[in-house]
Amino acid sequence: MEKKKIFAVYMIAVVLFTLSGCGQRVVDTQQIAKNEKIVIKFSHVVAENTPKGLAAERFAYLVRERTGGYVEVQVFPDSLLYKDGEEMQALKDGKVQMLAPATAKFSDIYPPWQVLDLPFAFPDIHSVHAFMDGPAGEELISGLKSNKLVGLAVWDNGFKQVTNGIRPLVKPEDFRGITFRVMNSQVLEDQFNTLGAYAVPMPFNAVFNALAWGNVDGEENTISNIYSKHFDRVQRYLTISNHSYLGYVVLANADFWNSLPAWVRKVLEETLAEVTQWERDKAAELNKEQLETMKKEGYLTIHELTATERLKWQRALSSVYDHLAQEIGSYWVDRIKMDQIKD
Ligand code: SIN
Repeated sequence: MEKKKIFAVYMIAVVLFTLSGCGQRVVDTQQIAKNEKIVIKFSHVVAENTPKGLAAERFAYLVRERTGGYVEVQVFPDSLLYKDGEEMQALKDGKVQMLAPATAKFSDIYPPWQVLDLPFAFPDIHSVHAFMDGPAGEELISGLKSNKLVGLAVWDNGFKQVTNGIRPLVKPEDFRGITFRVMNSQVLEDQFNTLGAYAVPMPFNAVFNALAWGNVDGEENTISNIYSKHFDRVQRYLTISNHSYLGYVVLANADFWNSLPAWVRKVLEETLAEVTQWERDKAAELNKEQLETMKKEGYLTIHELTATERLKWQRALSSVYDHLAQEIGSYWVDRIKMDQIKD
C-alpha cells in the first residue's frame, strides 16, 4: 500500500516536471495567454482608409509579427474609443497607450506647435520634413515631455484644402460671412476670422453632420480626410489651396513607455521609424489618388489656386503671423520665417 502511494507521488512529480518544460519556462508565442501580453491601445479619430489609419494598422501588424504576438497593438479608429478633446486625457490617464493627434491639437498643451498651422508656412512637403526631422521638430516634441507624453514619430497627412457650400473660394474676399469648422486652435480661428469668415472649433467626428445640417458652411482639410469622411457629398466647392500642413505626432504615455522592457521599446521604435517612411509615401499617394477620384465622381466644383491667387491669399493672411507672435512670442514665428527665406 505504502509503495503504491510513493509510486503515485513520483508519477505526479514526473508529469508536473515534464509539463513545466523540464524546469525551463518555455514561451510558446502562438499560445500566449491574454494576461502575459503587452497590450497597447492605439486610438485615433480618422477613418481606416487614411494615411494615419493604414499606418496604425501596419504598425500593429509588424509589431505582432516581430514580437511573436507578445506585444499586441489594438487600433481603435474613427473616434470609436475617444474623440477630439477626450483622447489626450485618456492617454494621460493610461486608458489608452498611444495616439497620433493632428499637431494643431497640441495648441493647449504646448502653444508653439501652432507655428505649423500658420498659413503658407511651408512651400512643399520636403520643407515640412526638413523642419520636423531637424532641431525645430526635436524642440517641439520635447515640449510635450512636461505633460508626461513621449513623441515618437511625425506622420504626414498632407496639405489642407478648403471646402464650402456657399460659393467658390478664389479671392480672399470670397470668405466673408461664411462659417468654417476648425480644429481647436487659436491660429486656425484667426486665419478664418482675418478673412472676415467665422471660425467654429469642433471635434472631427462632428464635422460631417455639421456640414450636412448646415451648422457650418465649410471646413478645411486634406483630400484624404475630405474623401474618407464623405465631406464632398455635403459640400459644393473645393479650392485646392495647399495653404497649410496637417500632420500628426505619434505619442505614448510616458509612464507606460518607460515601464516597457528595453527590447520592446527598441522593436517599437524601429518599427515606427520604418512605418513612418511608409506612411509619408502613402499619404502623398492617397491624397493624389483620392483627388482624382473626387474629380471623377463630380460632387464638387473644384478650383485650383493660381500662383497669383495664392499670393493674394498669402498677403491677406500675413497678420496671422503677427497675432501668433503676440501670443507665443516671436521666437517660433521668426524661426518659421527664416526657414521660408532658406527655401
Ligand atoms: C485628423 O486628421 O486626425 C483629424 C483632422 C481634423 O480634426 O480635421
